Amino acid sequence: MTQPRGQFSSKIGFLLAAAGSAVGLGNIWGFPTQAASNGGAAFLLVYLLLAFLLAYPALMAELTIGRYARANVVTALEGLSNRPLARRAGFITGLCALGVAVVILSFYAIVAGWMLAEFLAPAARQLGQAGSSEWLAGGSFGRNALMCAGMSMLTIVIIAQGVEKGIEAWSTRLMPLLFAILLGLIVYVLLQPGSKAGLSAYLIPDLSRITDPALILSAMGQAFFSLSLGVGTMLIYGSYLRDSDNLPQMGASVTLLDTGFAFTAGLLILPAIYVAQHQGVTVYTPEGDLIAGPGLIFQVLPALFASMGSAGDWLALAFFALMSIAALTSAISLLEVPVSVSVERWQLARPLAAWLCGGGIFALSLLIIWQFETLFELAITLSTVYGQPLLGVALCVFAGWVLQRNHLLGELSKGHPEIEATLFWKVWPFYVRLICPALIILTFLQSLR
Ligand code: PHE
Repeated sequence: MTQPRGQFSSKIGFLLAAAGSAVGLGNIWGFPTQAASNGGAAFLLVYLLLAFLLAYPALMAELTIGRYARANVVTALEGLSNRPLARRAGFITGLCALGVAVVILSFYAIVAGWMLAEFLAPAARQLGQAGSSEWLAGGSFGRNALMCAGMSMLTIVIIAQGVEKGIEAWSTRLMPLLFAILLGLIVYVLLQPGSKAGLSAYLIPDLSRITDPALILSAMGQAFFSLSLGVGTMLIYGSYLRDSDNLPQMGASVTLLDTGFAFTAGLLILPAIYVAQHQGVTVYTPEGDLIAGPGLIFQVLPALFASMGSAGDWLALAFFALMSIAALTSAISLLEVPVSVSVERWQLARPLAAWLCGGGIFALSLLIIWQFETLFELAITLSTVYGQPLLGVALCVFAGWVLQRNHLLGELSKGHPEIEATLFWKVWPFYVRLICPALIILTFLQSLR
């Protein structure tokens, strides 16, 4: 029995769901820490440029293919053409995207679990459970596995409820909450001594860095990761869009929301680093670099919270609630990729598909937690530095070369003939065929030299 396809019930529902996918750990953690160690606003400038010149057109390719095909990533890419070779290529590319989505979710759920643990630790302390709080703040295998299981289960339960009642309803609840917590934290941190130095480090560019190939590649990787590209999440969300929604406008809004959120998160993280330094917390490595990555989130910021007396627990609670919510709305979009494939290709019931796929991915997460030293970085590098940009190129090629031009254009302006008078309409179809793939590949090659 084929089940009816889900659909987002409103524009705002889609926007919050797609922004929920895009806004995640990449925005609150990845972007600000990369900016901090790569010349502040210089990174921001390069990032904004790449987000709008490369990532937005690639996002449009995914949304357009998705709504045109109204199917999961494998079926959609396979069905864009009748030629056997193109069908085979589409099938294989779809499977690769699916594989990358699975790998990303397997490490993402681990990190999401750490966030959940850091959120529960101060809560347990406030409730007088000092022992549990200490266990939660530790890094044992048991803690990591249990917290990852908790996050995976939340993700599964939401996805099992379907597009409108699960993805849309939860994104609509969680995204405004996310923004409110972020704003509250920013106001608090900016009122603390030392924060102004953080603002200038963030907003005054060190332009000597701007042509550094390593900076450009990490900005590109960050942009593709942040906009959830190359793995079929945006494709499947696009496939749940209504025909009456204006595609280019939806894509632009998602890009703006995502970059706007990353920028705003920088207003929290960079000043917080300098407030921490003001409080006597070590924020530099012995080599003189700013502590970035996990060290920032799990040493510098907790040390900052600890130095703030009783307010510290509440700050930690709010900050890690922010991180957990951001991670959850992204994780659901990742799980939707394999679940939509299972539901549409093998006719599994959605709840069953959600538990099976979610359970399988959790098993992979456990493997990574177990062999952390070897597997964790490897999974991240393979999926995000190589997989996402290369699959991004592939999806542009499918939109530009495999999908017939009249179908592509028809889908783009469906329901909104006024789109045919825009600059976007004139430039994008050509851009996505040649310029965008070429630029992505060039950026890639340049950094390999
Ligand atoms: N965009 C998410 C983030 O910034 C991560 C993500 C990548 C989600 C790929 C879905 C697909 O954290």
